[in-house]
Amino acid sequence: MMPALFLPARRRALLNAGLLLVLGVLGFAPLAQAQQSLNIICSVQAEWCSMVQTVFARTTGIKVNLVQKGSGEALAQLMAEKANPKTDLWFGGTGDPHLQAAELDLTVAWQSPSLPQLHDWAQQQARQSGYRTVGIYSGPLGFGYNTELIARKKLEVPKSWADLLKPQYKGEIQVANPASSGTAYTMIATLVQLMGEDKAFAYMKALHANISQYPRSGTGPIKNVARGETAVSISFVHDGPGEAMQGFPVRTITPAEGTGAEIGSMSIIKGARNPEAAKRFYEWALTAPAQQIAAATRQFQLPSNRSAQVDPRVPDFKTIRFIAYDYARYGRSAERKRLIERWEKEVGSLPR
Ligand code: F6P
Repeated sequence: MMPALFLPARRRALLNAGLLLVLGVLGFAPLAQAQQSLNIICSVQAEWCSMVQTVFARTTGIKVNLVQKGSGEALAQLMAEKANPKTDLWFGGTGDPHLQAAELDLTVAWQSPSLPQLHDWAQQQARQSGYRTVGIYSGPLGFGYNTELIARKKLEVPKSWADLLKPQYKGEIQVANPASSGTAYTMIATLVQLMGEDKAFAYMKALHANISQYPRSGTGPIKNVARGETAVSISFVHDGPGEAMQGFPVRTITPAEGTGAEIGSMSIIKGARNPEAAKRFYEWALTAPAQQIAAATRQFQLPSNRSAQVDPRVPDFKTIRFIAYDYARYGRSAERKRLIERWEKEVGSLPR
């Protein structure tokens, strides 16, 4: 048989059309319409990430490649790949490093037509970044504790930031490392706003004596509380119910003096190789049904879309004493870098 290359043009076209038909019947997509793909860094917990990956791919036919990283680690990766970005979209994680990414020109502006459907705090996050990021959820910072360990060790349930300094908690508390974790940075920024910077650092130095470990990931400490490895954690309180639903003896509480909240955010990366797929994901992720995937995977942040159903396990913001968290200031690149470096120098490096 003559190789297709040497056939007259008309016969070659017919042969190609036939081949495309066969490939179509066999379910192969022709090369010209190669499957679109999207590369995401996901900074929420693994179950939510993989559900988002599956549902979005099923809904749109776009293949999602996903890596899971804490907020600080995600930002570090985006900074490292700035000249040659491999990521299209950053989904979730605390808002401060998303604001920092916006300021560092790592992300692009996209003003979603769905913005009016979002809560004010989510729109505010978009506005103050020049629309380079947007709020997708929110959640308060507080403490997690293991009810059985607390009872067995005859500890009190900590009710305030001040309580955490009591000698009874020596070696009983965990909080993540702020260099990798957005949760831990939210703690620093909250304490600085609550006490003033020098007092907050004196507080964190004193707290250091009661800390057994600074895990890499923000959810590490509450998972360790759940599994009885430590009695108390400083964590987002929306991460408690998911552990309790798995049968672990975990409860959460917010501190009496007041606390901060995160605005979990989403950004499209500058120089993304798949910008159209990224926008499609962005719009999808702002819809109520997409946001309800969180609770379906046992994660109980408050969704930013006003129409999304709010699971009863989502913390009730009305009962919590919040500080007026200055997102613009603590999302500033120089400020975040400075506070983390100060923590590493004055707190993280101290002996215990
Ligand atoms: O996924 C749970 C969660 O608490 C999110 O609400 C938050 O944005 C994220 O973890 C922060 O993770 P990390 O502290 O590791 O950056």
